[in-house]
Amino acid sequence: MGATGKDFYASPFGVAFSAYMERPRLSRLISRVVFGGDTKRYYESMSAVAEVAGGGTIVDCPCGAGPAFRALSADTEVRYVAVDLSPSMIARAQKRAWKRGLTTVELVEADATEIPAGSDSADLFLSFWGLHCFDDPAAALAEAARVLKPGGRLVGSCFVRGNDSFRQRRLIRSGSGDFGRVGTQSEVEAWLAAADFEVSGIERSGPFLFFQASKKDRMIPLAGDPELAGLAEYAAACPHDLA
Ligand SMILES: C[S@@+](CC[C@H](N)C(=O)[O-])C[C@H]1O[C@@H](n2cnc3c(N)ncnc32)[C@H](O)[C@@H]1O
Repeated sequence: MGATGKDFYASPFGVAFSAYMERPRLSRLISRVVFGGDTKRYYESMSAVAEVAGGGTIVDCPCGAGPAFRALSADTEVRYVAVDLSPSMIARAQKRAWKRGLTTVELVEADATEIPAGSDSADLFLSFWGLHCFDDPAAALAEAARVLKPGGRLVGSCFVRGNDSFRQRRLIRSGSGDFGRVGTQSEVEAWLAAADFEVSGIERSGPFLFFQASKKDRMIPLAGDPELAGLAEYAAACPHDLA
């Protein structure tokens, strides 16, 4: 949403944005001319969708008007949950899903920090061009980590501050347009680390940051932990039936 709390994407800008994001060549041209960065990596990284095996779950948040649906085939056997806070974007995404014959896409109107999906339930989390829109991007990444299975994959992109050109500094300002809390590259890296992500790829093009990461698979260190070993001994010696 915008700084005013209104549906920013119900505007003519939202209509234009939704249309050109669906057209990679046009979108890349606009991004280069306006922002001085190439969005090629964004379209390429959507291939992660096709890599999720049947029966798996993908969460796309924020889904916007559904540009990532292009990577999904109509006969897919994955569960695809598309989440966005904007009712107008959800309506456009719904139309796009129908147009592509994607009858199983689940569209959910929700905040990125409160995704109605179970913990450890998703194999892939798409976070395209959302972090810079959010008031609390660190909380949104923590939510992505909650939703992902251990070892699950995060693929995303966002605008970052700390740009060389005057034009970029003028255009990319927290609180203007759809920008929320725009971080620097180091801040995004710190938020990823704080959310327990292991970064496997990070790439920059002008003010655009593209990232790939996986949720750390935390094993409970049962063997070799003296305290837990003591607990196991206690449980074994315990006269009560703990089963
Ligand atoms: C720049 S668009 C990107 C959409 C899409 N991922 C894409 O690649 O085109 C940002 C989206 O974030 C959504 N958004 C903004 N704040 C949000 C929040 N707190 N929770 C969920 N979605 C939010 C907007 O409604 C908008 O659809």
